[in-house]
Amino acid sequence: MVTERGAWGSRAGFILAAAGSAVGLGNIWGFPTQVGQGGGAAFVVVYLACVALICAPIMIAEIAIGRRAQKDPVTAFRVIRPGSAWWLTGLLGVMAGVGILSFYSVIAGWTIAYVWFTATGAVSGSQEAIGGFFGSFVGNAPLTIGLTVLVLGVTAGIILGGVRGGIERATTVLMPALLILLIVLAIRAATLPGADAGLAYYLRPDLSRLWDIRVFNAALGQAFFSLSLGMGAMITYGSYLSRREVIGVAAMWVVALDTSVALLAGFIIFPAGFSIAGFDPATGGVGLIFTVLPRLFATLPGGELFGAAFFILLTMAALTSTISLLEVPVAHLIDGHGWSRRSAVLAITALTAVLAIPSALANGAVAGLSSIPGLGMGFLDLMATVWNNFALPVGGLLIALFVGHVWRLDQALEELRAEGAWFPAPRLWGVLIRYVCPAAILLIIFFTIRDLAG
Ligand code: PHE
Repeated sequence: MVTERGAWGSRAGFILAAAGSAVGLGNIWGFPTQVGQGGGAAFVVVYLACVALICAPIMIAEIAIGRRAQKDPVTAFRVIRPGSAWWLTGLLGVMAGVGILSFYSVIAGWTIAYVWFTATGAVSGSQEAIGGFFGSFVGNAPLTIGLTVLVLGVTAGIILGGVRGGIERATTVLMPALLILLIVLAIRAATLPGADAGLAYYLRPDLSRLWDIRVFNAALGQAFFSLSLGMGAMITYGSYLSRREVIGVAAMWVVALDTSVALLAGFIIFPAGFSIAGFDPATGGVGLIFTVLPRLFATLPGGELFGAAFFILLTMAALTSTISLLEVPVAHLIDGHGWSRRSAVLAITALTAVLAIPSALANGAVAGLSSIPGLGMGFLDLMATVWNNFALPVGGLLIALFVGHVWRLDQALEELRAEGAWFPAPRLWGVLIRYVCPAAILLIIFFTIRDLAG
């Protein structure tokens, strides 16, 4: 069994892998989509508050649990509190890993196809033509299912390589390249005619939306999803971290990188979107980046190259996230049930592929899945809502309660300050994790359910 567990090669290795998990479709596809549906800048304000006050403290808590226990999320709770039922928190995370991966791999499949489509100039022409192209592509059942299986297969292949050789190596080069390209695109977008309206939409909050509970629920779910929190991904990655590393610093880096990439994505999409006549960010839906960005690339010299580079990097960013999604259930079968890495990877990948099929068919291929009667949303949206807006915050709530009131702060702080490590504001962190995080998450979930029921 010892040989099946891995370890990071360096501190940068952990930060990059954790940031690789965090930075993904959630930032570049999810964030602008949610901003568009949540009414613009008001969503951004609420999102940033969720990141700072709720998610950053939980990020620290997850890494601490993982490093203390050196186990997968289910076994970690068993190690720290033997005989209690807290391991169910880990089990919820394992299920969320499979659930999220099942729809995430569908969208990652789209990004692969768009490498090809942009490079060959297949997506071009008027806005209607680009939108129509997207619609008929995602409605193509064999193609989208094939791409989904491809994403899962590549993810499984990387994970078979283990922690250091597979996960760490892949991330080290990709993250800097992605950041540079995003900055270039944001600068170009800001100079387009009409960009001002996009920037105003993105940066000037409509204060009346600030107290909309749906905006809060969507922002909280998006923050958990984007930071890979609430399902034990950071517990798992923390379990491969050495005692010599400083958790506080690593967590700050991951939060800062992830938030910067999400904000940058907005600085690209909204100015570019508003430069198109008649653009409405709220109706872009899941296709927003696939229909707006090709127009942006068309304004650049060598746009096909830019487009292809963008979608290559986005695919890579998605893969470093799918890796962490798959690693959680895989680590559980290895640590908790003594499976070999190989059988664990094969079994979970096969299960996820089956679960992914309805999400792949929910974008036009099968009408009953694309818009589920009585629900007003399709299967993919339903999965995203259930896992992101409910399962992850509930997981985060349980993690905060566990660390703040069961494992207890002095124990957690002992882990955070192991070997003299620097940890800023332990009191503040304690108050946030014990009271603020649980209370805020509970209130948001309570009012959301009340709002849905009424
Ligand atoms: N954070 C990833 C993204 O933004 C998605 C993810 C969620 C990965 C949960 C792992 C766990 O794309």
